[in-house]
Amino acid sequence: MIRVLVVCLGNICRSPTAEEVLRQKLDAAGLAPWVEVDSAGTGSWHIGDPPDARSQRHAAQRGYDLSALRGRQVAPADFHRFDLILAMDDDNLTDLQRLAPDGPRCAEVRLFAHVEVPDPYAGGPAGFERVLDLVEEASDAWVKNLAVRLGTS
Ligand code: 4NP
Repeated sequence: MIRVLVVCLGNICRSPTAEEVLRQKLDAAGLAPWVEVDSAGTGSWHIGDPPDARSQRHAAQRGYDLSALRGRQVAPADFHRFDLILAMDDDNLTDLQRLAPDGPRCAEVRLFAHVEVPDPYAGGPAGFERVLDLVEEASDAWVKNLAVRLGTS
């Protein structure tokens, strides 16, 4: 089993989108039984909230249902529970490195995509489409990476 946590600032736009896209792509590749996917935010504003209505709408247009997801905040214990913690942007990465507990931990912390996935919250519809474009591309790459880690490729 490999456990993956995707992290952004609010856990209502980028990381829930990535959680669902990655889960669906893992399912399509037959890897869902061996990879657990979750998401969280570095901030606390949206604990318990469903994903942003704009994120839900744009995701639904591409066949991803985000409606059941709820916001939660990343915690030090996540560095012991997850094997991979994947940040959406450099600020998230810095915040995660600050939060990481001292001593042994299993999580490898890195960016989710080959570039930062920009925060769409304060912008228009193009930002939400850009999130989906980047997240779909990076999720395809993660499916391949995880298949190698699992020894199934
Ligand atoms: P996210 O977007 O990090 O992609 O979920 C944001 C959502 C909410 C806020 C910031 C970013 N906020 O400040 O409430």
